[in-house]
Amino acid sequence: MAFHVFLIAALLLLPLPAAFSKASGRVFDPRRSRSYAAVDCVAPICRRLDSAGCDRRRNSCLYQVAYGDGSVTAGDFATETLTFASGARVPRVALGCGHDNEGLFIAASGLLGLGRGRLSFPTQIARSFGRSFSYCLVDRTSSVRPSSTRSSTVTFGAGAVAAAAGASFTPMGRNPRMATFYYVHLLGFSVGGARVKGVSQSDLRLNPTTGRGGVILDSGTSVTRLARPVYEAVRDAFRAAAVGLRVSPGGFSLFDTCYNLSGRRVVKVPTVSMHLAGGASVALPPENYLIPVDTSGTFCFAMAGTDGGVSIIGNIQQQGFRVVFDGDAQRVGFVPKSC
Ligand SMILES: *[C@@H]1O[C@H](CO)[C@@H](O)[C@H](O)[C@H]1NC(C)=O
Repeated sequence: MAFHVFLIAALLLLPLPAAFSKASGRVFDPRRSRSYAAVDCVAPICRRLDSAGCDRRRNSCLYQVAYGDGSVTAGDFATETLTFASGARVPRVALGCGHDNEGLFIAASGLLGLGRGRLSFPTQIARSFGRSFSYCLVDRTSSVRPSSTRSSTVTFGAGAVAAAAGASFTPMGRNPRMATFYYVHLLGFSVGGARVKGVSQSDLRLNPTTGRGGVILDSGTSVTRLARPVYEAVRDAFRAAAVGLRVSPGGFSLFDTCYNLSGRRVVKVPTVSMHLAGGASVALPPENYLIPVDTSGTFCFAMAGTDGGVSIIGNIQQQGFRVVFDGDAQRVGFVPKSC
């Protein structure tokens, strides 16, 4: 049986959604920008919106976007020059200037769409910078830990794939009915070094006829959701292997497998790996699947089941990896410990 020796560091509360109730960034004021330009109602790019409107008085294109968690944003569709920390300036990027933003994402000044749809940022810059990008998401508690100096990074252009030396790659798939998502072919899991039995491929495969099922890699979802029978098989394997962990009865939020690690400084945690098509194996560090949910030592197995058809590899499970979206080779890579 394979275990991680997991050091229980100073416990930090998960920044739960409630902590994100007010906008924290600076608000963009288009009146103070000379490079901002509204998009005409008749402009071809306005018609590329899934949900376009027109303010006839101003002849100005309006957008509206709803996200899977119920968040919505609506406002003017416009173009603007984006300037990055590297000094790179990208002119005439089509974006939404939100006047009505509701839900979780308003914690930030903005939201960069990284999907594979027609209006995402990577798609818009593909002609000048290529279709590839990569990101590395630091532990979600880093921003509330004063000692932390690390931040998450995203890289576009040639450097995005160059950073992928040593990556474990898997083919990138698409679903015409859900064009914005990056699909991967998840074959199964290992827990404690042993392949989890009872994972049926039919629960993880995309059905090309109905567009249901399949597995997406999403930076905008926190907790991995697996088709329920798959989740139950992985969870049961974890419970069986986690012999040294004291069970905390009951669950927490969407988690059904929690442990009371109060008073423990070091615990042995079974290893968890994801196996993807093309021979890619992603060995998760323990903080990517056993997370603190309170300040009294309760940790939960941080995945959940779903009956929603599509399974999602969420951002908690992607932490610490540089995730490389290689658009030319149509593959996704994972480089461990790369933030
Ligand atoms: C966790 O275990 C400790 C004993 O080691 C106990 O004092 C505490 O009440 C437990 N916490 C919960 C939430 O059950």
